[in-house]
Amino acid sequence: MRSFLSLLDFTTQELVGIVDRATELKVMLKAGEVHQPLQGKTLAMIFELSSTRTRVAFETGMFQLGGHAIFIDSQSSQLGRGEPIEDSARVLSGMVDIVSIRTINHQLLEKFANVASIPLINAMSNTLHPCQLLADMQTFQEHRGSIEGKQVAFIGDGYNMCNSYINAAQQFNFNLRIACPIGFQPDAARLQKNTQVQLVTAPEEAVKNADLVVTDVWSSMGHEEEQTRRINAFKGYQVTTQLLDLANKDVLFMHCLPAHRGEEISQDLLDDKRSVAWEEAGNRLHSQKALLEFLL
Ligand code: CP
Repeated sequence: MRSFLSLLDFTTQELVGIVDRATELKVMLKAGEVHQPLQGKTLAMIFELSSTRTRVAFETGMFQLGGHAIFIDSQSSQLGRGEPIEDSARVLSGMVDIVSIRTINHQLLEKFANVASIPLINAMSNTLHPCQLLADMQTFQEHRGSIEGKQVAFIGDGYNMCNSYINAAQQFNFNLRIACPIGFQPDAARLQKNTQVQLVTAPEEAVKNADLVVTDVWSSMGHEEEQTRRINAFKGYQVTTQLLDLANKDVLFMHCLPAHRGEEISQDLLDDKRSVAWEEAGNRLHSQKALLEFLL
């Protein structure tokens, strides 16, 4: 029984296998092939925070694979009335086959996984967003081949997406340059473990020779009340078409979405031919299906 709380829970070979499988599943779906290995299986999706892409990818993915998905939020379940997560883990282990959780508290995932007898997927926490990275790696590979040895730039908040890129650099063996304002840098301990990762201050330095440039919103879920302070702190960290011009000629741009045009990206960036953000979002479906298939 395996769970997926972090990219570090799987081997490189397993992760590459899931990414390859995601592309296979995409081709099969486009060809109209019915593939339903998860008949009779149920995924319970616990969302403490909002979601469009992650939820729709899991729900549609389970349907396409022949299984079923249940949406659970804090307000309408006993979780919101204080039932301990360990008790929920025991109960769900007796009723469903796999669980995904999106939470602002990564420890809640660990508590659930310690007690559950079924696989658990991190559908995003305050620390990591590993499902997003599967789709990002798939999208890069479909456009440019293996990401191994490539140069990646992450610009912006050293939060869950940035942490996940640090893990991805280790697992997929690419070089990562991160440009964050002082005070918004990623976890130092995570950085120290990764020799392929370099922290810089200027976005212009981070994108030098980059094959892929990535950013995320400046105020993630849970940081909304800090928005004004953050807009000031992140001035100069907006990713623009001009910034991409400083990277490699065939650079790709990714954003996990939702995006705030005029903040972390310029108004026109998602329409630039170097942006693959819509495809990246679409690949959430295929990569999460590959993950479900692997875990079940
Ligand atoms: N990128 C991402 O996780 O999107 P959602 O918040 O819509 O699920």
